[in-house]
Amino acid sequence: MTPCFADDIKSELLDRQPFKFHHKLLGHPALSLENLSRVLPTLPQQQVMYSKGLLDVGADFESTFRKKPKERTLEETIESIRTTDSYIMVRSPEVDPSFADLYKALCAEVAALMALRGVGKRPIDAQLYLFIASPNSVTPFHIDRYSTFLMQFRGSKTVTVGLPWDDRLVSQPNREAYVVRENTKLPWTIERDAFATPFEFSPGEALHIPFIAGHHVRNGPDDVSISMSIIFNTDESVRWKDALSFNHVLRKQLGRVGLSPSGIGQSDFKDAIKSRMWHRYLKMRGYAG
Ligand SMILES: [Fe+2]
Repeated sequence: MTPCFADDIKSELLDRQPFKFHHKLLGHPALSLENLSRVLPTLPQQQVMYSKGLLDVGADFESTFRKKPKERTLEETIESIRTTDSYIMVRSPEVDPSFADLYKALCAEVAALMALRGVGKRPIDAQLYLFIASPNSVTPFHIDRYSTFLMQFRGSKTVTVGLPWDDRLVSQPNREAYVVRENTKLPWTIERDAFATPFEFSPGEALHIPFIAGHHVRNGPDDVSISMSIIFNTDESVRWKDALSFNHVLRKQLGRVGLSPSGIGQSDFKDAIKSRMWHRYLKMRGYAG
């Protein structure tokens, strides 16, 4: 099986801290422009999202890809990406056979890291994402409901990442509302970058973005950027996600009497209870929990 990650990966920091390491997938045929130009038009339309025009860092990230510009086809966008300020995001390219082995190999390596950290045996809901972006394009500040390993293949990027539970970057109520998809616009100002670390990375390098760590991305000025990420949850991050969802509901209830719940990510014990309460809550509301 293709080896994907180099030995400098810091498994003990998984979902604790962002860190840079190296990947071994440079030159993989699946990531060649020829293969991408062949695969992308064959994928279902909902898996290929693209934006036109450089985005502002403070923009609403999740609404960026909801609309597809009518005036340009995907093929034309790939052709002219260097000059058109475009940003293509491809979800689950692993449905194409050219990505299948790569997906398997990455899942196996993530599973090994998870086992080392004691957070489960295999990645949950693992998916690949491809990003093809014009020079200088920006992904606005956001958090993700999953853990990420982002690998660079072409061009350069600066990814500015904070620590996962830093309330100075994202407040607890905002984090909870984001996780339940009630509000996907997180407040951000340049001053908040003081609480985050900028990671410059180029082809062959990779970056771990922990579950719910605030981050934004700016591509380098010189070349089209091609990167791929594997996103996944662990047993631990699923627990956190459920506990955050429960806290969101609890916060509304307690808020009526002027109280607020304790935060998530501080006590494994409390998080486990709140995660179980979330399942009970879903069951009560008629959802399978
Ligand atoms: Fe992200």
